[in-house]
Amino acid sequence: MDRETLKEGQDQSFAHPDSNVIAQPLLVSREARIRLKGHDPKVLWFTGLSGAGKSTIANAVETSLNDCGVHTYMLDGDNVRHGLNKDLGFSDADRVENIRRVAEVAKLMADAGLVVIVSFISPFKADRDLARSMMREGEFVEVFIDTPLKECIRRDPKGLYRKAISGEIKHFTGISSTYEAPENPELRLVTANASPRELARKVVDLICPQN
Ligand code: ADX
Repeated sequence: MDRETLKEGQDQSFAHPDSNVIAQPLLVSREARIRLKGHDPKVLWFTGLSGAGKSTIANAVETSLNDCGVHTYMLDGDNVRHGLNKDLGFSDADRVENIRRVAEVAKLMADAGLVVIVSFISPFKADRDLARSMMREGEFVEVFIDTPLKECIRRDPKGLYRKAISGEIKHFTGISSTYEAPENPELRLVTANASPRELARKVVDLICPQN
């Protein structure tokens, strides 16, 4: 197996700091996996404040893509924090590690040929940029769910803003922890002006355009 073939099958492990960890060839290539799926992989990366509407819109996107015959998987912050990332809290360092891990998982899923829907606050620009840099050209789509903090506090669907404002929860995004809004996302969805269904359509149209 030459290096090029190895690279095609698994391109992530050449720079391992321990030279005794050697990347193993995968005989089924990424391209073969994509051919079987019948569509290009994507990473649809939803970012926005807690309560902005990320999960609602992301779920509507996934439902429509499935109706359209697209193979998807959804990674949602609250869910991933119950399993893979249950050792992480909400300090800046833990959030960085949270996003690094989920970006690695999203990359594997994209290599498997899926359209991956990632729905995390992902508050720091540097971490979202790192995730983008890990994917292939054109594969990463940043979707900013743009709901003003004031409106998230008004909605407070999980009662968490109330607890954060009273000091019961520390390091809460928008209250006592920073959120860096994307400056140039591929899509900016302003939730004040449209229903989740209408906004989801804008994302779905990128992959599965209406006839
Ligand atoms: S991220 O900042 O590291 O990307 P992530 O999306 O995984 O956050 O998790 C956010 C979810 O955790 C929120 O929707 C909310 O339900 C819950 N949560 C609990 N504590 C906090 C906190 N301190 N800051 C933000 N979200 C919190």
